[in-house]
Order: sequence, then C-alpha cells, then structure tokens
Amino acid sequence: MYNSKITGLGKYVPEQIIKNDDLKQWMDTSDEWIQERTGIKERRWIDPKTSDDTTSIMGAKAAKIAMERAGVTKDEIDFIIFATLSPDMYFPGGGVRVQELLDMPTIGALDVRNQCSGFVYALSVADQFIKTGMYKNVLVIGSENHSGGLERSTRGRGVTVIFGDGAGAAVLSREEDNSKGVLSTHLHSEGKYAKELALEGPSTGRWVDAIMEDNDPDDTSYYPYMNGQFVFKNAVVRFSEVIMEGLMANNLTKKDIDMLIPHQANLRISQFVQRKFGLSDDQVYNNIMHYGNTTAASIPIALTEAWEEGKVNDGDTVVLAAFGSGFTWASAIIKW
Ligand code: UT7
Repeated sequence: MYNSKITGLGKYVPEQIIKNDDLKQWMDTSDEWIQERTGIKERRWIDPKTSDDTTSIMGAKAAKIAMERAGVTKDEIDFIIFATLSPDMYFPGGGVRVQELLDMPTIGALDVRNQCSGFVYALSVADQFIKTGMYKNVLVIGSENHSGGLERSTRGRGVTVIFGDGAGAAVLSREEDNSKGVLSTHLHSEGKYAKELALEGPSTGRWVDAIMEDNDPDDTSYYPYMNGQFVFKNAVVRFSEVIMEGLMANNLTKKDIDMLIPHQANLRISQFVQRKFGLSDDQVYNNIMHYGNTTAASIPIALTEAWEEGKVNDGDTVVLAAFGSGFTWASAIIKW
C-alpha cells in the first residue's frame, strides 16, 4: 500500500480588493464591527467589469501553479477533484471545466460539495485513490466565487461581510515511504443542522418557478443564510474534537503539532482552537484578515502561503481542520 503526499501547491485570488470601509456603499456596517467580530480587514471579490474570472477559471489558475511546482505535466494527472459550493453552473460541476481549461486528457473529474470542509473531504478522496494504487497524481482544487451571490444590503450584512473569492490547489502524488504524506483523514457530518448555514434556492427544493411565482420582496431564500452564533458554538467544539481524533489515531499529542492550518471561518475561532491546543502564533497560520472566508478555497490558499513563507518544512506534522455548512467537519494529519 502506498501513501499520498502533497508535491505542489498553488493559489489564485482575484485582483479587486474590497476593504471593510468599501462595504459601506452597500450596507450599514463598520470596519470596527467586522474586525472585532471576525478579524477580517479586506477580501478579494471578482470585478465582472474587468475580469472574466469564474470559480473554474480561478481553480484552473491555482492548479497550473500547483502542477508546475509539483513538476508534473497535465498528461501526468490521473484525476481531478474539485471542491466548491459556488460552481459556474448548476450542473455540470467545476471539475470538468478544469479538464477543458487545462487541456487535459479525458481523465475523470469529481466535484465535492462539502462547503467549508470541501477541501479536506476532497483530499481524503484523493488519498484513498492513491493509497489503493489506482492513481499516481491527483489534482485537488478548492475554489469559490462568493461575491456573485451575496446580498449587498444591510439585510445581508451578517453574511456578506465575511465571504471572499479565491482558489487553492494541491497535487497529491504517490509516496512509497509510508511514514510520510497524508497519515490520516477524519470526516464527519450532522445533517440535522443543514438549514443553519445554507442557501435554499434555486434548487429542486425551491425551484425558480416557485421563487418567481411568490415574487416576495422579503424572500431571502436565494441568498446564503447563517445562524452565526449557533454555527460559532458548534465550530469551536467540532474543530477541537476532530483535531484530537486525528492526533490520537496517529499516537500523537498536541505537542507534536508543528503547523495547524484551520479553515479560515473567523479569526476568533482560530484563536480559540490555538489556545485550546496551547499553540504559539508561529504554529497556526491565519490569513482571513486579507481574504475573508473563502470556504473550500481557504485551507489550500492558507497552506500555499504557509509553504511559500517557509513555514511548512520537511518532517513537520501539519494539521488541517475545517468546519462548516452541512454541518460537516474534517481533519487531516500530514507528515510533510
Ligand atoms: O465557514 C463556515 C463556518 N462559519 C462560521 O464558523 C461563522 C461563525 N459565526 C460567526 O463568525 C459570527 O457569528 C458572526 C461573525 C457571523 C457574527 O458575529 P456575532 O457576534 O455572532 O454577531 P450577531 O450575528 O449576533 O450580531 C450582533 C449584532 C446584531 O445587532 P443587534 O441585533 O445586536 O442590534 C446584528 O444586526 O451585530 C449586527 N450586525 C452587524 N453590524 C455591523 C450583523 N452583521 C453586522 C455587520 N456590521 N456586518
């Protein structure tokens, strides 16, 4: 049996920077409120007037960098896994668009719909394919275009100020040394809380016809909804549980963590987890200040930046952890 190892990482974010104060043109909010509650200072939003970026295009741009760094060509990739909650089209998903955009052979492409946990779920699927020997190199992408679907008004401010656009990608490759690479992944869900963080329509549960027929100015079902405090309370518990689960499965303790890359949901959540595990500022990577919450893209963007800054090195124990809509939560323990 083989192991899988991250051999290349890449990220792409749109050019347009939206600072907290810029949001005031659409809603009643303040830089102070946003920074105090979330840690966010700015985020990237696609500017459709000057850019043709989409979820798939951003994903392909990040993937290209990851492939170059891994030293693999498009012909050496065996499979694409694409995690997003904001695909270019209702169907098909983003994976097939990446296959076309990168002019790849007719390899398989799978979309993962697990929101903030999407990248860790996708990594886990890729890891299984590599462990069984079926594939040698798998492209794993997390990408989101939130800005196109957020409600830019005071009514939507509780959600809109938090989310940003961007993409991150990793090439996962066969590793013959079983003490290296992805040591474990742990995946969880609790569907009874699906509606606490969701976008209901348009979907088969609330189709376009119904939305148009109701023609209700108070209808917010086609904007994302989040029960913020409830999500926050669950997040801090689940993050901690799933990191602990991963450590224990590998006979590791919190003292063995060299770098924790938490999903960038809220700086306060990351700080809570940091305190709980007794980690120093150097052992936790946060960039939510600059990108907001980019859902499935947040972990691969953060991991790419941590690696670029020389904060992830050979032999390090790296922990990825995420929690979000579903609810879903997940962790990965990686020996770099
Ligand atoms: O990535 C997926 C997982 N997501 C998360 O983990 C997010 C978890 N939740 C959170 O991060 C926080 O709950 C939020 C940052 C979303 C919200 O912070 P909060 O401290 O829970 O605020 P709140 O929703 O309880 O709102 C407090 C007040 C309200 O006013 P009143 O009713 O007290 O008068 C809101 O209307 O803040 C108001 N408010 C705002 N004010 C200025 C809500 N959004 C804004 C805003 N600007 N953008």
